[in-house]
Formats: sequence, C-alpha cells, structure tokens
Amino acid sequence: MKYPEISFEPFFSWVCRPRVMYAPGLRSEVGYEMAQLGGKRVAIFTDKGLVDAGVADMIVEAVRNSDLELAGVFDGIVQDARIDIINAGAKFYREKGADCMIALGGGSVMDTAKAVNIMIGGGEEDFAPLAAQVALYEGAKPLPPHIAFPTTAGTGSEVTIAMVVLDVKAKAKISVAHPYCNCDLAMLDPELMVKLPAKITAFTGMDALTHAVEGATSTSAEPISDALCLHAIRLIFKYLPIAVKEPDNVDARGCMLLASCIAGMGFSNSMTGAVHALAHALGGQCGIPHGLANGILLPHVMDFNVSERPERFMMVADAMGIPVDGMEPEAAGRLAVQAVKDLLKEVGLTQTLKDLGVPTDRESLKPLMELASGDSQITYNPRYCEEDDILDLYLKAL
Ligand SMILES: NC(=O)c1ccc[n+]([C@@H]2O[C@H](COP(=O)([O-])OP(=O)(O)OC[C@H]3O[C@@H](n4cnc5c(N)ncnc54)[C@H](O)[C@@H]3O)[C@@H](O)[C@H]2O)c1
Ligand SMILES: [Fe+2]
Repeated sequence: MKYPEISFEPFFSWVCRPRVMYAPGLRSEVGYEMAQLGGKRVAIFTDKGLVDAGVADMIVEAVRNSDLELAGVFDGIVQDARIDIINAGAKFYREKGADCMIALGGGSVMDTAKAVNIMIGGGEEDFAPLAAQVALYEGAKPLPPHIAFPTTAGTGSEVTIAMVVLDVKAKAKISVAHPYCNCDLAMLDPELMVKLPAKITAFTGMDALTHAVEGATSTSAEPISDALCLHAIRLIFKYLPIAVKEPDNVDARGCMLLASCIAGMGFSNSMTGAVHALAHALGGQCGIPHGLANGILLPHVMDFNVSERPERFMMVADAMGIPVDGMEPEAAGRLAVQAVKDLLKEVGLTQTLKDLGVPTDRESLKPLMELASGDSQITYNPRYCEEDDILDLYLKAL
C-alpha cells in the first residue's frame, strides 16, 4: 500500500543514542568493546533465571577470555526494577571497585542496571528521591561505561531513555527518564536467547509488538518512528511464531532481538499509549508480568482506538501482511485487531485477566483505573480515555 496522507505534530525532536552491534556470538567482543569505552573492571548485573539457564556463565567466560577484570556478578535482580534492589546493586558496584557495568537480561535487569548507573554517576546512595523526580534531565551528564546484552525480545530497554521502577509500597510502576541511562553499546547476540522458555518468548514478544503498534499510532508518532515501528511489526509477525516453536532457531531469535531493539528506538521517541498505562497498573497491583499484561490488553485497546486514527491502523495492518489496498482505513484497522488475536492464539497466549486473578467487578477495578489514568503513557493514546473507558477496557480483557 502507499504511505497514506497522515498528520503528525509540526515539531518533534529525535534521540538515538546507543551504538548497536548485532551478531550471533558477539559476546566474544565484549572485552575489546568495553576497553574502547574506557572500562577496566566490570560488574555484571543479571538475575537468577539467567544464572540457572547458564547464560550468565556465557558472559563470564567472554569476560575471562579478555583483558577485562571481573569485579563480580550481582544476580539479585527480580521481576521489575525495585528500589531496594537498585540500591543494593549500587552498593555492590562500589564495594567491588567496579568502574563499568554489563547488564545481561531482560527489562527487569536492564532497568535495574540503568538506575544503578545513574546512582554511580551522581554519587547517590538511594534511588527513591530520584525516582520521585520522574524526569532526570536537569544537569544530567554521561554515565560510566555500560554495555547491555538484552536476553528477551522484549522491552527494547537497551536503547530507551527510561526505566520502569516498581514502588513496592505504593504497588505502582513509574517510568523514570534520564538522557544517558541507556547503555553506551547494545550488543545483540541471539545465541543468548535459545534457553528462553516458550511462554516468556511469547509474552515478551507481545511487549515488543505493543511498543511497535502503540509507537506507530500514538499522538507523538512521526515519520522516523513510523519507519521503525512498522518494520518491527513486519519482523514480529514473521518471526515470533518461529521463535516460540523453534527455541534454538538463532535466525528467528536474532530477528526478534532486532525487532525489539528497533521498536524500542521508535517508541522511546513516539511513546506508547493506553495498553502500557493499563499494564503498568496491573504490574504494580497484581504482579502480572509486563509482556503478558500487554498481550492481553493490546487487541482491546486497538479496537477502542481504531476509529480515532484509522489511516495509521491501516498502515499497521499492512505491516502485519494483511492485503489492505482499496479498503476503507477503519475496516483495514479492524483486521489488524483480529490479526493480533490470531497471533496471541498462535503463540499460546490464551489467558485473560480473570485467569490471572484480576478482580471482576467495576468497583474493585477502581484502584487499577486510578493508577492507569495517572500514568504518563495514557496521554499519548490516540483516543482520549475517560475513567469509564479505562474500566470498560479492563472489563473487556477479563
Ligand atoms: N525501560 C523500558 O523501556 C521498558 C520497556 C518495556 C518494559 N520494561 C520493563 O521491563 C520489565 C520486563 O522485562 P522482560 O519482559 O524482559 O522480563 P524480565 O526481565 O522480568 O525476565 C523474565 C524472566 O525471563 C528470564 N530470562 C530472561 N532472559 C532469559 C534467557 N535468555 N534465557 C532464560 N531465561 C531468561 C529471567 O530470568 C526472568 O525470570 C518490566 O518491569 C517492564 O515494566 C521497560
Ligand atoms: Fe513495554
């Protein structure tokens, strides 16, 4: 199809910071690359799942085979970046005398490592007051050397300029932005992903798809994010089912890693929308993994949004491989909604919010609605969401 007549804001700014390298086996270059960045003694940040899967050892071995000194491996990260663990990570980095970091993991690890590096760069001992500021732009300076190996595909956190932090007491997730928080170098090595279980492959892939769809349809979408988000959609529709069914297919893993990274570059600039706002509330209140919440919500929110920006949803449908030439944009957009439902089934994600213990009556959903309506991402949703709209969307996803 032809790129349709679409509108975008007359002013936008574009950020594209980290260098990205891609190759199966790329981890063997980590020592050389860290030396180029000025790092000598590295702290590796990861989680127990990656240690148990033998993935952490693959990076430890690459470090040991280089001139880089290993200060230590911090594997205490859990689901979502938590302030107590961020603080413990910064203490670990200092006590071990590290001067650079490797983040090895999915979004929970990469977001924790980003926050640790901000504390190291600024000399802080507690991340809580920084998280409360939400946007850490004033006086922000480049941070110590930081290489990320994303191991889910995924969040795209290796390239985005924000981290999502879980406030355990408030049971709320907050996005915190800092212009230098993403890594200096994203090393995309798909061999690190062959042990990722099918279910996590599926729901992290739905997170990447949500970034791409919301990034291409948000109120801040513009031609650069269109180029990125639409191509990410093409890659995800082709390669996510293969990555789920053939875990050791390195080409499919690689295309998913690239799709996640590309979508990350897109949505980090054009932002997301209501899926993310509603999913953050579900993560904070009910502990639902981010990608799973997004996957369940995505078709319902798309269906709610299509009529507001039909030509953009038609582009999304086209990127999904649906023949849309000659169709009315809104009808084409509705086919994109159905395609997402079909993809969810194909990759085995058939759960609903009810299956995950989310309350089923309107009254009990109000705390979730209040968090979602205050989430920064809802302001970028193409269609204005009233409080009742948010409650209706949760009810539809039950
Ligand atoms: N900063 C951003 O731009 C951004 C964007 C989207 C989401 N997020 C945040 O990222 C977090 C979610 O990250 P995620 O979805 O990547 O999941 P995750 O990092 O929580 O990882 C999920 C599980 O997969 C395991 N795992 C990861 N890689 C593996 C591998 N290669 N082999 C075997 N096991 C592996 C981990 O051990 C963990 O148990 C959420 O907190 C979310 O809010 C951040
Ligand atoms: Fe996300």
